[in-house]
Amino acid sequence: MQAKLAVLAGDGIGPEIVQQALKVLDRVAQVFGHQFETEDGLIGGIAIDAKGIALPDETVEICHRSDAVLLGAVGGPKWDNPRAAVRPEQGLLGIRKELDLFANVRPVKVSPYLLHASPLRPDVVAGVDLVVVRELTSGIYFGKRGRYLEGEEERAFDTMDYARSEVERVVRFACEMAAKRRKQVASVDKANVLEVSRLWREAATDVFSAYPALQSEHILVDACAMFLVRRPATFDVLVMGNLFGDVLTDEASMIAGSMGMLPSASLGAGTVGLYEPIHGSAPKYAGLDVANPLATILSGAMMLRHSLGLEKEATAVEAAVDKVLAEGYRTRDIHSGAPEETKVGTAAMGDLVAERIGY
Ligand code: IPM
Ligand code: MG
Repeated sequence: MQAKLAVLAGDGIGPEIVQQALKVLDRVAQVFGHQFETEDGLIGGIAIDAKGIALPDETVEICHRSDAVLLGAVGGPKWDNPRAAVRPEQGLLGIRKELDLFANVRPVKVSPYLLHASPLRPDVVAGVDLVVVRELTSGIYFGKRGRYLEGEEERAFDTMDYARSEVERVVRFACEMAAKRRKQVASVDKANVLEVSRLWREAATDVFSAYPALQSEHILVDACAMFLVRRPATFDVLVMGNLFGDVLTDEASMIAGSMGMLPSASLGAGTVGLYEPIHGSAPKYAGLDVANPLATILSGAMMLRHSLGLEKEATAVEAAVDKVLAEGYRTRDIHSGAPEETKVGTAAMGDLVAERIGY
């Protein structure tokens, strides 16, 4: 097949990890006979430096004319002034919103070879295979916000705000996903305190009633944070609002051993999606060839599956990653120092995965 990919490498380690994913995708194209044409776009800090804004119109146009978007990471100390009107993160939030990618899919699967990379006990993380579906285009990330003075005192506010239809579509998305998996779905909220969570819970309950074959439940977000470390293997699909999903997926990444292992797909109503690792731009590791590219490579696999319909190819990439881990190759974040492990850099890890596709 022929596909057009928008490549937004961004800042920090973004360019190095994206390069590894492209290496792997090139290999997939060669082995399976596809043509992937790429077009680069600026996003985040690098876009601010070049164009004065984090998401230039040209970048949006590149994404609109592509079948999928591969993204690295945005942000860094250079642009970190909290008072700045223009911030790298605006690029990321902007492109998610612009493409209406309301469902952020973050799978947490523990490789049997990385059981000891997690700070949690191996018997707790063994067999974990869960997916967090995070609402991505609404909630407190996009609600009204501001600062004001009350007397002499400075105050600020952000608003968590959801429309019933926004909750319904993302919960439906999660239910469809659960139906193809182990048929369990949990909606996460804070309905004992927040009005927006009570609406969320009502809407989720209505959607659940249309899926009688699924085992469904509601969990309060604080309890969920605890269950994720106590019994992560019991979860199948978890669905939650934007902020809760942001927080709980960083927590959940520790189940898999490292932020550097978790891919994500941001999807909407169509097949166009945005694929990025869940981690940030890690500026202190930029350019040092130490970053783990596996989350981005696995995001590429998700892209093959969800946007391009290439299931066999996606599986080949995931199998190649498994093989590399089975053979003991580790970037520093997942390297335990055990004698059977070989520590490798970013580019070498990309080569190792690419070489194992098609064999
Ligand atoms: C993520 C990141 C982003 C988010 C930041 C960089 C804006 O933490 O994708 O989880 O909060 O969504
Ligand atoms: Mg985050």
